[in-house]
Amino acid sequence: MAVVRRATDADINQVVSVNYRCLPENYAPSFFRDLHQRFPNTFYVCEIDGRVVGYIMCRIEFGRSDLNNFSLIRKGHVVSIAVLPEHRRKGFGTALLKAALSGMVEYGAKEAFLEVRVSNTPAIELYKKMGFEIKRVERRYYVDGEDAYVMARKLPPEPSSI
Ligand SMILES: CC(C)(COP(=O)(O)OP(=O)(O)OC[C@H]1O[C@@H](n2cnc3c(N)ncnc32)[C@H](O)[C@@H]1OP(=O)(O)O)[C@@H](O)C(=O)NCCC(=O)NCCS
Repeated sequence: MAVVRRATDADINQVVSVNYRCLPENYAPSFFRDLHQRFPNTFYVCEIDGRVVGYIMCRIEFGRSDLNNFSLIRKGHVVSIAVLPEHRRKGFGTALLKAALSGMVEYGAKEAFLEVRVSNTPAIELYKKMGFEIKRVERRYYVDGEDAYVMARKLPPEPSSI
């Protein structure tokens, strides 16, 4: 049975493994633990039969709006999301992102944003489907020199409206 639920500290090792299998952007386990402790409402896992097959982790930041240049706002940053290859295209990425966006609203965020490789069509399509728009290009954002799109969307006032 598949379930999308809040991550616990006991999930972090499996989350780190999923990250290594799915993405070239890897972080120390302490980085995952730190974000989980600070922002538990935006750290979710997808579990199938007791095994973690996907995760999303985010951070709440304070800064310039990506949608309206004049305002300083609280915004949610999707730091990392991944689903194991054998479980993709089953709606888990969507469910993880929805849950994390609701968590951002709980923290008072007005917008959500993220960076994505310009070549990462599956992720870009998922984000577009979830209301994100491409706002700008960050040249050579990744260590291998690839550019990133910065994508952003407005968040509703109520978590249940995501
Ligand atoms: C991006 C990722 C998390 C999507 O997870 P997922 O569970 O497959 O996503 P979903 O099943 O919810 O797909 C939602 C929508 O995204 C789009 N999408 C997903 N995979 C796609 C693909 N391979 N090609 C085109 N569109 C795709 C589709 O619009 C899809 O809806 P549909 O299946 O009804 O057509 C997954 O591909 C992944 O882990 N990729 C590797 C890690 C990664 O790139 N993370 C993002 C870093 S910024």
